[in-house]
Amino acid sequence: MLAYVWAEDENRLIGKDDELPWRLPGDVKFFKDVTMRGDIVMGRDTYETIPKRPLKGRRNIVLTHREDYDGNGAIIVHSKEEILRLHEHSGEDFYIIGGATLFEMFENEVDELYRTVIHESFNGDTYFPGDFDYSKFERVKYWDGVVDDKNIYPHTFEVWKRIRE
Ligand SMILES: NC(=O)c1ccc[n+]([C@@H]2O[C@H](COP(=O)([O-])OP(=O)(O)OC[C@H]3O[C@@H](n4cnc5c(N)ncnc54)[C@H](OP(=O)(O)O)[C@@H]3O)[C@@H](O)[C@H]2O)c1
Repeated sequence: MLAYVWAEDENRLIGKDDELPWRLPGDVKFFKDVTMRGDIVMGRDTYETIPKRPLKGRRNIVLTHREDYDGNGAIIVHSKEEILRLHEHSGEDFYIIGGATLFEMFENEVDELYRTVIHESFNGDTYFPGDFDYSKFERVKYWDGVVDDKNIYPHTFEVWKRIRE
């Protein structure tokens, strides 16, 4: 199973200056709970926002063109095909965690979507693809996150599954 896991604001914004535009610990926890079930896959830019250190308890797979990239223990790959091969052979679920280039790359292969929608408008520079075809997916679950003094933005967690004909 291939899944996307991400958070976006009400305009599909996902990033600003190589960081998240918001602080939302409740979403960080959700992200961790979901991605602990398999391996995580990300672009080199996203990896360097973590910053450049594998997230614990999961295999970290990083996509880059750079042949000599030192991933500090992450698995380095150089093409989409290499990721799909790894996925096929590992038997693990792969959670693709961004950024925008990876969210475009696997649109035809992704089976499940874990989307957090933050009901707020932020400034930034990186967006989830605007032409993503949600009509191929069914939203099977959604619930509102807790708003409190640490999580000040109203937000909704959503789970979508690809509709199989
Ligand atoms: N809100 C969220 O849930 C969320 C999630 C993830 C990221 N983000 C944000 O998104 C931003 C980063 O996203 P991004 O789209 O700019 O970058 P990205 O997708 O994380 O990484 C892009 C890099 O991936 C590598 N790459 C892409 N396609 C490739 C291919 N076909 N073959 C080999 N390597 C390839 C290239 O690395 P090289 O240049 O090394 O070749 C490219 O520069 C940051 O602001 C981050 O905070 C937000």
